[in-house]
Amino acid sequence: MLSQVAARAFSPIRLGPVQLRNRFVKTATFEGMSPHGVPSPKLVEHHRGIAAGGAAMTTVAYCSVARHGLTFEHQLWMRREIVEPLRKLTDAVHAEGAAAAIQLGHAGYFADKDVIGGRPMGASRALNLYGLSVCREMTEADIQRMIEDFANAAWLAIEAGFDCLEVHVGHGYLLSQFVSPFTNRRRDGWGGTLEKRVRLPCEVVSRVREAAGGRAAVIAKMNLDDGFAGGVTHDDAVQVARALEAAGADGLVPSGGFVSRTPFYMLRGTVPVSEMVAIQPGAVRRIGLKLFGRIVVKEYPFTENFFFDGAKRVRDTVKIPVALLGGVKTLAGIERAMASGFDLVSMGRALIAEPDLPRRMEAGLATESRCVPCNLCVVEMEKEGVRCVRM
Ligand SMILES: Cc1cc2nc3c(=O)[nH]c(=O)nc-3n(C[C@H](O)[C@H](O)[C@H](O)COP(=O)(O)O)c2cc1C
Ligand code: SF4
Repeated sequence: MLSQVAARAFSPIRLGPVQLRNRFVKTATFEGMSPHGVPSPKLVEHHRGIAAGGAAMTTVAYCSVARHGLTFEHQLWMRREIVEPLRKLTDAVHAEGAAAAIQLGHAGYFADKDVIGGRPMGASRALNLYGLSVCREMTEADIQRMIEDFANAAWLAIEAGFDCLEVHVGHGYLLSQFVSPFTNRRRDGWGGTLEKRVRLPCEVVSRVREAAGGRAAVIAKMNLDDGFAGGVTHDDAVQVARALEAAGADGLVPSGGFVSRTPFYMLRGTVPVSEMVAIQPGAVRRIGLKLFGRIVVKEYPFTENFFFDGAKRVRDTVKIPVALLGGVKTLAGIERAMASGFDLVSMGRALIAEPDLPRRMEAGLATESRCVPCNLCVVEMEKEGVRCVRM
């Protein structure tokens, strides 16, 4: 028998215009199941399985709003030709009684130059160690086009049947590069004070909301901190959360870390260096990672609900629903999140490992995820598609 607080996790909630059947959300974890940027039947089945497992909403991961925002060749980028295949996915998720979300973003300065066929662009000029290139600073025209790219992607996502659009303002992607003082050194209206650095994410949220026109919820994934000195701090995050709420976000998903600098800050647990070395495409990258992997890719010890303290400050600041993300894995931890005022729990690896965890928790058949976390699913994502190697 579930306690009253735990029962709250299985009760419905409204997220903007969308009714969710419970508080469990499968967060965005890049699937690696979209060859040449086209959703495959495997991607549809992946999300159908999560929906069938009891989560209220599953999030299709990282869909770039334009080709120049890609970090992998086989990654989604929004265009008319993928609306129909995406519609198959949202239909399959809806048939299982869940809602479908899609993460819309742009990689900015760490887009892969070989994949996008040109020079990446970002808030300010920066060296891109990922693709070994120097990105250029975005012009005013680039910024205006980017806002329109987000709005157009939102239109198409709604046509494809998505119930929720997640704007990616975290993890060092383009909008997070604008928020971070480390990557935004602009002196115009888009840089300098925090108010100006958060202006682009806010304009994007506002335009995406306008495009959604009440037909889908608009939420933002944002950083609590970047995971290194000189980046966004918890104090900044509180202001960012307020600004995103004022811009019209229906909900927030606080996270942390910068993919190009502290990738495992958000993926606490083991860093599988030797397995990562094996899948590097070029010899230079392979040798570099082998020699410096442990130094370059820092490991952060896993603790349950590892973003709790920072996320709680955001929770207590805004009125809109806030999800607890990062190391959510036990029913006791979920109870604590509910008792602390979080409206949702977002889960990545626990639902990759066991998509039916919400159903089994509700039925009293499980109290804890069996995810270790070894992070080998991250390696799998770049091979045949994300999967748990242990279950
Ligand atoms: C295989 C894999 C791929 C990921 N891809 C994304 C992504 O595309 N976008 C994103 O915002 N976060 C991504 N993440 C990070 C997750 O959304 C989440 O922040 C992280 O896994 C921590 O949550 P967890 O402890 O519940 O797994 C990914 C994580 C994993 C394991
Ligand atoms: S491979 Fe499985 S056990 Fe390891 S982190 Fe991923 S989901 Fe968890």
